[in-house]
Amino acid sequence: MENYSTILVSQDGKTAIITLNRPDKMNALNAATFKDIIAALEHIQQDAAIGGVIITGAGEKAFIAGADIQEFEGMTKQGAIEKASFGHEQVMNRIQAFPKPIIAAINGFALGGGLELALACHIRVAVPTAKLGLPEVSLGLIPGYGGTQRLTQLVGRGRALEIILTGDMIPAEQGLNWGLLNHIYEKEALISGAKAILERIYLRSPHAVGSAIAAVNTGIIDPVAGNKKEIDLFGSCFEHAEGKEGIAAFLEKRKPNFP
Ligand code: COA
Repeated sequence: MENYSTILVSQDGKTAIITLNRPDKMNALNAATFKDIIAALEHIQQDAAIGGVIITGAGEKAFIAGADIQEFEGMTKQGAIEKASFGHEQVMNRIQAFPKPIIAAINGFALGGGLELALACHIRVAVPTAKLGLPEVSLGLIPGYGGTQRLTQLVGRGRALEIILTGDMIPAEQGLNWGLLNHIYEKEALISGAKAILERIYLRSPHAVGSAIAAVNTGIIDPVAGNKKEIDLFGSCFEHAEGKEGIAAFLEKRKPNFP
């Protein structure tokens, strides 16, 4: 893999692991980190040997403690709008729309932009000591990388507003109960737990997996368009070699041979 200044990228079987690597700054998201994440995802998307991604944080304390607040100093309204737009379009939407599954493995604090990045991932798992929050209101700000939207979709309006308006951190257990997290794994089992989920997905048709992600994503923005997308993509599966193979394998009582 390439060399990056703010992240480490490794490969374990079919899984790429992106580790945010500024532990002395709690892996806060700065412009260089965004650039590295975009480049890594572009590379991973093209690499047919990679079936899925885990995003985690280096160090003992933080997954990602938010946007880098140092970059906020002296920022104008226009600068802030451009920053938020770039984060939305180039990073968070790219993660959400990624055609291969992405799991956030939350190893500590997931705050502000860090929780927003986790929310953009397809699945979230965390250690029992993880703390999750959107503390922007305590800085006189609101979430700017999709938190008001994605958290509401995931946990519902009442719970999302409690998290956003108090700015408080919630423990992993509460995140699990509220539907923010899919699973909690002990620290030693965090990455292997995320990998085990991906390994189950790798048994399935990669084309169908990508299509399902696209259908779910479309419906989040517009349920009517989501239904139409599902119908269209369901149709496309029948034209695809993997759809043909999956149906044939079932009827022939054998395991499908997917890439
Ligand atoms: N942006 C920039 N730097 C950050 C940061 C962020 N979001 N979060 C932490 N850091 C830096 C700290 O400034 C400190 O740097 P320094 O050693 O050069 O002074 C370093 O990371 C360690 O953080 P520190 O606050 O000393 O650790 P802690 O264990 O006492 O507290 C947190 C951990 C996560 C609770 C605390 O760092 C925090 O509240 N961070 C900001 C969270 C936030 O508001 N995020 C939303 C941003 S929109």
